[in-house]
Amino acid sequence: MSNRRKAEMILERDYRISAVDPRLFGSFVEHLGRAVYGGIYEPGHETADEHGFRGDVAALVRELQVPIVRYPGGNFVSGYNWEDGVGPREKRPRRTELAWRTIETNEVGVNEFAQWAQKVKTDVMMAINLGSRGVDAARNLVEYCNHPGGSYYSDLRRSHGIEAPHNFKLWCLGNEMDGPWQIGAKTAHEYGRLAQESAKVMRGVDPTIELVVCGSSNRHMPTFAQWEATVLDLTYHDVDYISLHTYYGNRDNDTPNFLARSLDMDQFIDSVIAICDYVKAKKRSKKRIDLSFDEWNVWFHSNEADRKIEPWSIAPPQLEDVYTLEDALLVGSMLISLLRRADRVKIACLAQLVNVIAPIMTETGGPAWRQTIFYPFLHASLYGRGVVLEPIIKSDKYDSKDFSDVPYLDSIAVLNENEDQLTVFAVNRNLEGELELTCDLRGLRDYQVAEHLVLTHRDLKAVNTAKEPMNVIPRAAGGGQVEDGRLRALLPQASWNVIRLAKR
Ligand code: AHR
Repeated sequence: MSNRRKAEMILERDYRISAVDPRLFGSFVEHLGRAVYGGIYEPGHETADEHGFRGDVAALVRELQVPIVRYPGGNFVSGYNWEDGVGPREKRPRRTELAWRTIETNEVGVNEFAQWAQKVKTDVMMAINLGSRGVDAARNLVEYCNHPGGSYYSDLRRSHGIEAPHNFKLWCLGNEMDGPWQIGAKTAHEYGRLAQESAKVMRGVDPTIELVVCGSSNRHMPTFAQWEATVLDLTYHDVDYISLHTYYGNRDNDTPNFLARSLDMDQFIDSVIAICDYVKAKKRSKKRIDLSFDEWNVWFHSNEADRKIEPWSIAPPQLEDVYTLEDALLVGSMLISLLRRADRVKIACLAQLVNVIAPIMTETGGPAWRQTIFYPFLHASLYGRGVVLEPIIKSDKYDSKDFSDVPYLDSIAVLNENEDQLTVFAVNRNLEGELELTCDLRGLRDYQVAEHLVLTHRDLKAVNTAKEPMNVIPRAAGGGQVEDGRLRALLPQASWNVIRLAKR
């Protein structure tokens, strides 16, 4: 019996989900492990610039065209005193960092990060500490970063050699404040009130900023849904987005089930949209709250190793997941899930960017390379800008341990009208054979395949390493073709596909 599966798809240029907000391809750098020290910053490195930023890492970040990077945490931010990281370096304190039980040297702080962001051509999504601190530190940080001058904190910034304000436009009101692990964790009511008051003073200093309020740490938290409803009830008029976080793993080595986990992400997104709209209805409000999926990825490989890390080290190798081909397939599906709800998910951050559960890995004092998950993220960032089309998909399906009716085909298409390009992103979840895809290009009949990129490997557990950085790489090897207004492609077993079409 053949293991080949089939899927049919219809794309019509006028069936549209939404224009994509470029911030959907954001990422995240936390003061955690070797993300900052040994990641973006390593003064002794042979590629370092005069400020100590690694040139090889910066080049890879620029390649990804990341439009926005969340900083400085994560769990780290809930114990962080931003003042520790500004001013003369020799005066900056070393602190015990309680979220990850390390020593934070504060060599890099908000001004250095802003400088790095300029170097890699990205914006900063700044998070404030609503764990150990609150309203006062929040308004002072906005004043330090965004006020032009003539006030205590803006002049302090100028005295630190930064004349022009950073003008950070997007701010997170804390991080995962429902999590019992969070420094200063809160009930929904405690957090909602604090977020509301912080938002008020932050916008008092700079009315142009946008604010993200914390949703639950993940969909499986016992307080999920009620947390969002309570927090939004208290903050609806003061914030613009609510955050979502999720990480998946393949701990029991059940790959069909693992690859179906993006269905959980779909349900998560739909549920949070429903809660936002419930609060909107309750308040009879005209305002719409959108979603900021500001932490998402695969995370599980490093869990065991992390338990053995010596506490109070400086920049130890924490959360250094080495990603496999199958992880890249799930990351591809998660990107498809984000694009599918681009009408409401306006911001998303792949967590994280360098070394810590990241697409880019480095050796301290050595090379930097692309992990497997680098590629789906790169492709989505480069070719996923435009208008998401609403596909109609009929695919063969399977059942897994936690999911039923999992389509073998996971797919979405983005039309870039300025460049007359149409990109079909597709994951073949079939681990035993090809997937025969037929796509009816209604209203897009004058498009031809320009390139069909495929990321796959005979070994689902294949990885890239410093020694073998090109083991899992995309190849322009797919045979997708358009004939009589139909795109036909055989998607290889267990593969990520990017079928790029251009107008004839
Ligand atoms: O990204 C790693 C950690 O995951 C972040 O610090 C935290 O917000 C989440 O639990």
